[in-house]
Amino acid sequence: MTNVAENGRPVRDSRCEMTEIVLPSHTNQLGTMFGGQLMAWVDIAGSISSARHAGGVCVTASIDALQFVAPVKLGQHVCIFSSVNFTGTTSMEVGARLESEDPNSGLRVHVATCYLTFVAIDPSGKPRPVPPVIPETDEERRRYHEAGLRRASRLELKKALQIKRSLVP
Ligand SMILES: CC(C)(COP(=O)(O)OP(=O)(O)OC[C@H]1O[C@@H](n2cnc3c(N)ncnc32)[C@H](O)[C@@H]1OP(=O)(O)O)[C@@H](O)C(=O)NCCC(=O)NCCS
Repeated sequence: MTNVAENGRPVRDSRCEMTEIVLPSHTNQLGTMFGGQLMAWVDIAGSISSARHAGGVCVTASIDALQFVAPVKLGQHVCIFSSVNFTGTTSMEVGARLESEDPNSGLRVHVATCYLTFVAIDPSGKPRPVPPVIPETDEERRRYHEAGLRRASRLELKKALQIKRSLVP
């Protein structure tokens, strides 16, 4: 039997596909979706992906900038595809692709891509180690590599801000 904690878990184990219908309460006066509602759904999809990878509940540590490249209209479907891109020691980067789907034509449009960091939590509320993620396809290896660059840049920014704050009287 393979030891997941040591040998890792393939990306496919963390895949989540979530579909929602855009209802009136999700939209603004123009009949298009509130960005915050999309963020709430993407946070849930990311939470499921991270829990599938870590084998337990995780918390959202951060959500990278989320750019909405196309509006989502009342009555459309929102399809969210997420999986773990990269693992640190206790944290994971989850990547999510958001698409709108027209219920009549079936036409799918890319509306946003989002990267979220989740941390696995032990019963006492402290971060706990997660198994390494195993990218198996060229696409997964590309995402793994790019997620590593994003993690380095996040940690660098966090460190720079801490230094700056410590200098402010
Ligand atoms: C996220 C949290 C668990 C980190 O705890 P911490 O005591 O700061 O832990 P550490 O500094 O040891 O960091 C743990 C991991 O989180 C990562 N991390 C911490 N803050 C981060 C941030 N802002 N962005 C990305 N990663 C972060 C660290 O890089 C580390 O990763 P690694 O183990 O893979 O190297 C803690 O800040 C927390 O509980 N935050 C609130 C989470 C929450 O409630 N989310 C929902 C908001 S409504």
